[in-house]
Amino acid sequence: MRAAFSIALTLLPLAGYAAAPAPPMRPPQLGLCAACHGEDGHARIPGAPNLAGQRYQYLLQALHEYRDGTRKVPVMQAASGPLSESDMQALARWFSAQSPCKQPQADE
Ligand code: HEC
Repeated sequence: MRAAFSIALTLLPLAGYAAAPAPPMRPPQLGLCAACHGEDGHARIPGAPNLAGQRYQYLLQALHEYRDGTRKVPVMQAASGPLSESDMQALARWFSAQSPCKQPQADE
């Protein structure tokens, strides 16, 4: 058991070099975002942007800007308030991995 565990730990760094990146883990805080952005990043309400397929760095930077007040949008300042740095990374990774929207939006 102990040996198997240390073998797993030894192999762990190799996982980063796998050909296809593993799909990201479903973030526990996804429910805080879903009503407006959809779990799949396809916006559910007029005025909320689609996040699906957007670049990870862009999404993470946007979350930082809401948190530090550079972007003053009360709904997003409230939504990002309770998130830790690792929560933001997990959410940005999740939404960037979702398939982009192809259909026109309902409010278009
Ligand atoms: C009450 C609705 C609502 C909720 C809940 C919400 N958002 Fe937003 N979100 C918005 C709106 C509206 C905008 C556009 C704000 C603006 O003009 O900058 C936005 C913008 C964003 C952006 C910037 C997108 C871009 O293209 O610049 C990101 C990233 C984002 N939200 C992530 C999240 C995450 C992650 C959560 C959950 C923790 C969340 N949002 C919860 C309404 C919401």
